[in-house]
Amino acid sequence: MKILVTGGCGFIGSHTIVDLLENGFEVINVDDNSRSNVKALEGVQAISGVQIPHYSTDLCDLAATRKIFQEHSDIEGIIHFAAYKAVGESVEKPILYYQNNLNSLANILACVEEFGVKDFIFSSSCSVYGNADELPVTETTPMKEAESPYAHTKQIGEGMIQHFAKVHPDTRFVALRYFNPAGAHPSGLIGEASFDKPTNLVPVITDTASGKREKMMVFGTDYDTRDGSCVRDYIYIMDLANAHTKSLQYLQAGKNQANYEVFNVGIGEGVTVLEALNAFEKVTGLKLNYELTDRRPGDVEAIYSDYEYAAKTLDWKPKGSIEDIMRTAWQWEQKRPEWSFKSGD
Ligand code: WQD
Repeated sequence: MKILVTGGCGFIGSHTIVDLLENGFEVINVDDNSRSNVKALEGVQAISGVQIPHYSTDLCDLAATRKIFQEHSDIEGIIHFAAYKAVGESVEKPILYYQNNLNSLANILACVEEFGVKDFIFSSSCSVYGNADELPVTETTPMKEAESPYAHTKQIGEGMIQHFAKVHPDTRFVALRYFNPAGAHPSGLIGEASFDKPTNLVPVITDTASGKREKMMVFGTDYDTRDGSCVRDYIYIMDLANAHTKSLQYLQAGKNQANYEVFNVGIGEGVTVLEALNAFEKVTGLKLNYELTDRRPGDVEAIYSDYEYAAKTLDWKPKGSIEDIMRTAWQWEQKRPEWSFKSGD
């Protein structure tokens, strides 16, 4: 089964391609490399032994996007990762996020319609829940107001797909709502390559441990949690990658109950920021230089998933722990190649 992965040079995309190849899928990739480096595919090739076809196309250009489908009339499935995802940047530049994330999705859906693609996996996010009133969040937890334009583009994206699915009963859609992806492939050949100063917790930790950053901040220790710092559901990147493969196999087997379904992809365990820092120090034996400071605007106090529905329905079992995340993230930080510090092709 030939799968088009959009954004396959990115963190989640590259790890998912490895898992797809290991499960017998044929993959082609499209990525404009504005926020990724095409050399990530060298890491994928080193792991899988497969050199996959790559298009460095801007998906906001419909004519260029259609060309991919004209050249590959046997694309049976799409996993759509390509989007900007920096929450803080989206607050400062909302139109950049609405244009990029939504125009690219609209173009890809136009190609699904024109070329009759059968299966579609959408990269969504737990941030669609906003500041959830109930924990853990389930797939039926109501979406509250998005805390950022980034999260809003994921809410709108899900809505676009829902309405599109209604008039395209022959195409089957799954939206995966990610919690906090982290860690790296156990080989250390691919990982999270943040090009500007990372803002996500785990790359900030490894930047601090490697000396790229003199110290890091813990944003808030006055929350109503067991140690005062925020609670998140950190999911090991290879478990998240496998959830995409399982979703395609689920659709391929015709097990879907409807042609648009949503799944939470987390591990259902809340870990506080301080617990995450301790896990890193325990696993590496290193001492992290951090300072307890004020809350970061826009942070929710706690969010973690109830992933039972995904586990049962998709036959998916997350295995990685916060220690596995820290161990593999640190290994990647020590091994990562020069290309992983800059985007481009
Ligand atoms: C985690 C916790 C911070 C950095 C974001 C997006 C979400 C998803 C994952 C795309 C928070 C604390 C962080 C630091 C800290 N992205 N922290 N010091 O904000 O939960 O989720 O990334 O889908 O949509 O919103 O992730 O890693 O930025 O923060 O104390 O230097 O770590 O306050 O409590 P977040 P994060």
